[in-house]
Amino acid sequence: MPFPYTVPQDGYATERLPFHIQLGRGIGTKMNKTAFISGVTGQDGAYLAQLLLEKGYVVHGGVRANAQDSLDRLSRLGIQDRVKLHNFDLLDMNNVFRVLRDLRVDEFYNLAAQSFVGASWDSAMNTLDINAMGAARVLDTLRTTSPETRFYQASTSEMFGAVRAVPQSELTPFNPRSPYAAGKAMAHYLTVNYRDSFGMHASCGILFNHESPLRGLQFVTRKISSTLARIARGSAEVCRLGNMDARRDWGYAPEYVEGMWRMLQQDRADDYVLATGATTTVRDFVSCVAGALGMRLDWEGEGLTEVARNAATGQVVVCVDPAFFRPAEVDLLIGDPAKAKAALGWQATTDVTALATIMARADYDSTANRLAA
Ligand code: NAP
Ligand code: GDD
Repeated sequence: MPFPYTVPQDGYATERLPFHIQLGRGIGTKMNKTAFISGVTGQDGAYLAQLLLEKGYVVHGGVRANAQDSLDRLSRLGIQDRVKLHNFDLLDMNNVFRVLRDLRVDEFYNLAAQSFVGASWDSAMNTLDINAMGAARVLDTLRTTSPETRFYQASTSEMFGAVRAVPQSELTPFNPRSPYAAGKAMAHYLTVNYRDSFGMHASCGILFNHESPLRGLQFVTRKISSTLARIARGSAEVCRLGNMDARRDWGYAPEYVEGMWRMLQQDRADDYVLATGATTTVRDFVSCVAGALGMRLDWEGEGLTEVARNAATGQVVVCVDPAFFRPAEVDLLIGDPAKAKAALGWQATTDVTALATIMARADYDSTANRLAA
């Protein structure tokens, strides 16, 4: 993916010489940096692994023991054999400790999470254990075994919840609306606390929604692009959605992992919002995807009776299903990425129409491949 700016690669970090000498790699030799990505099998983990490999890193990734099927994203990017995989579960303190004590990497990206907001009410304890306590397990292990490791925490715009300012920036107070967001807020505060208390280079990226063809099928953008792509290929199914009035600041995931990396290259650790600065309703995202697939929609009805029809055929392609309503909704997210632009030189370049087109095309093509198989 072309990115509109270039960053000089900084080479061997000289202040870290003792560690590399310990490993017997030779004094003063320019070495590859090492990174560990928890959640390497997820959307962001796969793109970040690809980016770090391109930059010459030795990339280690954490994989849950029962997760064989989920190596799919790494293999879609063609990097499955280049990432050094380790059994790693944020729920297991002994496992986290053993893996990190032995590796002592230069950079640790904590991307692992129970990341689906909608599931977090039904599995609140599990969500909190992974998302909040999991971050605590990593931070405390790094503090005792490898305090010089730079740490990235995957914080989220969901922490703004019922928003107290528009747009949301690093200064906007949190007001979480789900167990997912409450757990992420705890992990965020812990990361700041370990930075302030122990001088660790620990940063939080407060990332607004970012999507791609590798996005999980349960998230609304991919649910829409995959279902409408099948409909465009002739399927008679209907895309059943919850709250179509919700508004999100949707960006393109490969650009956001670049921002994560830039945070850890700064001299001082800090927290940054990554966002596009624009917001779109779920309904308008449906229309963007349909447009990319050459399908014009006629919207009719309202509330529970709202539907979208394929104007060419009259087929209902979208309807409302209350099963997808949440116990508490986050109505409006729109980020202010000014700090990231000024300090990191980072900005999103893919707008929501381009994003919907990328996702719709990928799903349309892969539907054809499945039909041909
Ligand atoms: P994702 O695709 O759902 O990936 C989550 C990853 O976490 C998967 O690799 C999953 O492994 C792993 N995981 C789950 N439970 C684990 C555990 N107990 N121990 C170790 N690994 C575990 O999420 P994503 O979209 O890439 O997001 C990456 C991170 O950014 C998450 O922390 C998410 O909450 C946060 N975030 C995402 C967005 C966004 O819009 N994408 C925005 C803000 C923040 P399996 O493959 O085994 O399931
Ligand atoms: N998933 C889903 N499925 N969401 C739906 C549906 C549906 O059928 N219908 C409407 N929505 C609405 C949700 O109620 C929500 O308001 C919005 O679409 C986006 O839902 P998701 O795509 O599930 O994402 P999210 O915003 O809740 O959470 C994602 O972004 C966060 C950053 O703000 C996840 O990636 C989180 O991990 C991340 O922190």
